[in-house]
Amino acid sequence: MVNLKVNGVSRQFHGDPEMPLLWYLRDELGLTGSKFGCGTGLCGACTVHVGGEAVRGCITAVSAAEGQDVTTIEGLDPDGNHPVQRAWRAHNVPQCGYCQSGQIMQAAALLDANPEPSDQDIVDGMEGNICRCGTYQRIFAAVRTAAEEV
Ligand code: FES
Ligand code: FES
Repeated sequence: MVNLKVNGVSRQFHGDPEMPLLWYLRDELGLTGSKFGCGTGLCGACTVHVGGEAVRGCITAVSAAEGQDVTTIEGLDPDGNHPVQRAWRAHNVPQCGYCQSGQIMQAAALLDANPEPSDQDIVDGMEGNICRCGTYQRIFAAVRTAAEEV
């Protein structure tokens, strides 16, 4: 059994502890904001926070979240008004949207760890999150804007 908290709610998982966390979040809890992209840790579409750190849910076992707080895009802010989310709207970042919850969760963790990032810190911190629509310039601008607020 794995004990964890997901978006502030205590949960007990009784299945295979090696199952990817993303499966649990999406298929069992219905938190479908985190997306399945590559399934091998290479695109970032599945990014969630475990213990405040950005992780790839597709290659993170549920057991890795034992005793931890897990946050998905649905729980980042009760009203969708986290500074990163506000900046995302201000810069009209998404195109198709598929990568965007992962981008936002990555950016939120980046700013949590480093509230005053340099331009290079932003580039380095976001480089593992792929956007097939090529919204990278708007992502960068939005993280820059959000960094002014956190
Ligand atoms: S789906 Fe997890 S990194 Fe691509
Ligand atoms: S907005 Fe389409 S993949 Fe990023």
